[in-house]
Amino acid sequence: MTDATSTQFAPQGKQVLVWDIWVRLFHWSLVVSISTAAVTGFVLGAPWIKLHIVSGLLAMALVAARIVWGFLGPTHARFRDFLRPPAAILSHLTGGDTGRHLGHNPAGGLMMLGLMAVVGLLAITGLTGLGGVLRTGPLLSLPYGIGEAGLELHEVLAALLLVMILAHVAAAIFESRRSRENLVRSMVTGTKERRPGDHRGRKVISHPRIALTVIALLAGLTVQVWQRDTGVPERAPVAVLDEIFAEECTACHLAYHPSLLSGAEWQVIMANLDDHFIEDARLDDETNARITEWLIAHDASTAQTRPAHLFANERESPTGSIAETQAWSDLHESLAEETFQHAPVYSKSNCSACHADAETGWFSPFQIKIPKETSK
Ligand code: HEC
Ligand code: HEC
Repeated sequence: MTDATSTQFAPQGKQVLVWDIWVRLFHWSLVVSISTAAVTGFVLGAPWIKLHIVSGLLAMALVAARIVWGFLGPTHARFRDFLRPPAAILSHLTGGDTGRHLGHNPAGGLMMLGLMAVVGLLAITGLTGLGGVLRTGPLLSLPYGIGEAGLELHEVLAALLLVMILAHVAAAIFESRRSRENLVRSMVTGTKERRPGDHRGRKVISHPRIALTVIALLAGLTVQVWQRDTGVPERAPVAVLDEIFAEECTACHLAYHPSLLSGAEWQVIMANLDDHFIEDARLDDETNARITEWLIAHDASTAQTRPAHLFANERESPTGSIAETQAWSDLHESLAEETFQHAPVYSKSNCSACHADAETGWFSPFQIKIPKETSK
């Protein structure tokens, strides 16, 4: 504490600026973006995925900008102002560290780092799932298994983040009481009351122009990476339906895409058309053979989509319907049973009532819309 600081000469009791405008904007924008991501992710589900992704990406961008500011910002924005060695953190937590920290105290600094790390990991695992499972974004060529693992980790991290946020809020309330100053208010106004014995940190000047340049470069690089790889991914489901299939198999229901089932499952369905659910859908042998061949040639093993991985080889359901599989029930557990009985849906198997892209085999969450109930 040898360097002179602007706060050092401020008279006792005077309000001094601790949190610069960028730190405050970062903090409250992060609050808004994380809340939005949490509500859309935990509560609203797949139909809100766009807002979820936008808010998550915003959080990631904010953290990236904050990291830059942690190296180039003013005194209390700097990592070196609040990232302390473990011994100092322990000493702070056990009461060995007397004097108030104007910026983050050592424990608060550790929490900052933890929160930023978890938000970063959430962005990475989110993009992994978006790429591997939903085949969009910059990581769309990842294997499905990695995407799925990414999504599972994403959920665990999201729960962890909520717990950390609760701890962070509790600590802010506790510290506010202990030091008789409103820490939440100072994150709004940026100022704190100067007191004797304060740890004021080593004064450094900020470099906003350099920071802005670095952030702009990072943003440009991100856009480049994002645009690098967004063509139609490998092993997309077949886009054009076989003519005879389209003619014969859409008389009673939507054209179930061949990638929804395994070749063996299609074989069973095609061999039992005389007893097809509640209908007789028999075809002549030649037509049957042609459709069967086409279905098998484009079955689930030929597509890298979520339904191809979820529903194929799952035909232990009593009727053989996709809608009776466990995977299907898990995905649709948030929907009321009545939704499937009323017009214009009528049946769980009427996928295209809610999935605009059902006949393409994709079943993208971006394409879900539950239709308004109509009277008959
Ligand atoms: C005469 C009417 C009729 C024709 C023609 C027909 N189906 Fe069906 N199909 C049904 C009915 C009824 C169901 C049960 C759907 C439901 O529960 O709403 C069904 C269900 C299915 C399912 C299961 C959907 C699910 O939920 O898993 C598949 C797959 C299927 N049909 C494939 C075919 C194929 C392939 C053809 C052409 C060879 C075909 N269907 C022709 C009446 C028909
Ligand atoms: C009444 C409307 C409705 C019908 C009918 C319906 N779905 Fe869905 N489906 C939804 C909704 C809503 C979700 C998102 C649930 C959530 O996570 O909140 C969903 C989610 C999905 C997903 C996961 C999308 C993703 O990646 O997040 C798949 C795959 C899917 N449905 C397949 C099917 C198939 C196959 C059928 C037909 C056999 C079907 N659905 C019938 C409404 C419907």
